[in-house]
Amino acid sequence: MSLPVRITGVGRYLPARMLTNTDLARIVDTAHEWIVTRTGIHERRIAADDETSSTMGAEAAREALASARLDPTGVDLVVTGTCTPDGMFPSTATRIQHAIGARRAAAFDVNAACTGFLSALSVGAQSIAAGTAERVVVVGSETMSRIVDWTDRTTCVLFGDGAGAVVLERAAPGEPGGVGALLLRSDGSQADAIYATGPCTPTAAALSAAALSAEAHIVMDGQAVFRAAVTALSESASDALARAGLTVDDVALCVPHQANIRILQAMARSLGLPMQRVVVNLDRTGNISSTSIPVALAEASDAGRLRPGDQVLLAAFGGGLACGAMVVEWSGVRAPAAPSAAAAGRRAET
Ligand code: UT7
Repeated sequence: MSLPVRITGVGRYLPARMLTNTDLARIVDTAHEWIVTRTGIHERRIAADDETSSTMGAEAAREALASARLDPTGVDLVVTGTCTPDGMFPSTATRIQHAIGARRAAAFDVNAACTGFLSALSVGAQSIAAGTAERVVVVGSETMSRIVDWTDRTTCVLFGDGAGAVVLERAAPGEPGGVGALLLRSDGSQADAIYATGPCTPTAAALSAAALSAEAHIVMDGQAVFRAAVTALSESASDALARAGLTVDDVALCVPHQANIRILQAMARSLGLPMQRVVVNLDRTGNISSTSIPVALAEASDAGRLRPGDQVLLAAFGGGLACGAMVVEWSGVRAPAAPSAAAAGRRAET
């Protein structure tokens, strides 16, 4: 079943500072060739000292509202997928809600690590379907650079910072648009395969010695996550298509979470989906966790890769181990994303 919900606006924000593989080779024992061959990543963006998940999220949300031609006072709900909030509380969504002037909106965060945007999208779409909201801003925003262990070459080469957002509105009967399948899963038995410590981490050796550090940082068993990612992404995508009554031939474009090009190629092989129909931007962004999908979606929309009526397959996987997939019937945004002044300025610098 597909919910009568349209994506009417898209937005994204990537910080100006770029960190290349060559830059990383000056910090840890690594090489551009190794990173490209094993991950497909060439560079990633790193937040400036005064940027946070809420400031970047607000930039992306403003761009999405401009693209939807919507006044922020008409927004009923701001949901943010993030695993790198500005603080323990209040929610990052609350700060975004204030920054964009959505003064009538409720606001809260969803933390499902890299599956955070899909989880937030599910909440937003169901709020509209249930009649508790008419217009929702769904944001994915991450400052992964603040929880990366910059001495650990097995993880620090993977992640980047940034934000993406969409505006959801009710689709009138007969209008194109729909959010369907809404498949979300998790396997908590593998929660320690990838996790980040933080201020509330147990101080007993409940996790590992690494967890005893006061500073939050990512701990990962890369190979275990890689194997689980291929299976979970392929199964969720294929189950979501079945739930939506579609086959892979119906998919105009697949917008997956951007973790590793080898994971995306394995998923595509398993689904029988040509890579030409898979959006890949991780070469320029690295893994931005819950931000990956909305940024890739906004780029695909701006590049004219999506047409009204297209079936778009979204699929994500990450810490939890949480995964999910959804099928969006593209309705076409109201206007191509008009970069906000700050975002435009930062892009001009790059
Ligand atoms: O959003 C979900 C989050 N996480 C993921 O999706 C990560 C999933 N996992 C992966 O993407 C891959 O497992 C990695 C990219 C993390 C690692 O690739 P791999 O092909 O699984 O490499 P590996 O762990 O088997 O390591 C191979 C070698 C090791 O050296 P030895 O033991 O063979 O001598 C590593 O120490 O590569 C070494 N290595 C590196 N060498 C240069 C690990 N990291 C690096 C590095 N530069 N950055």
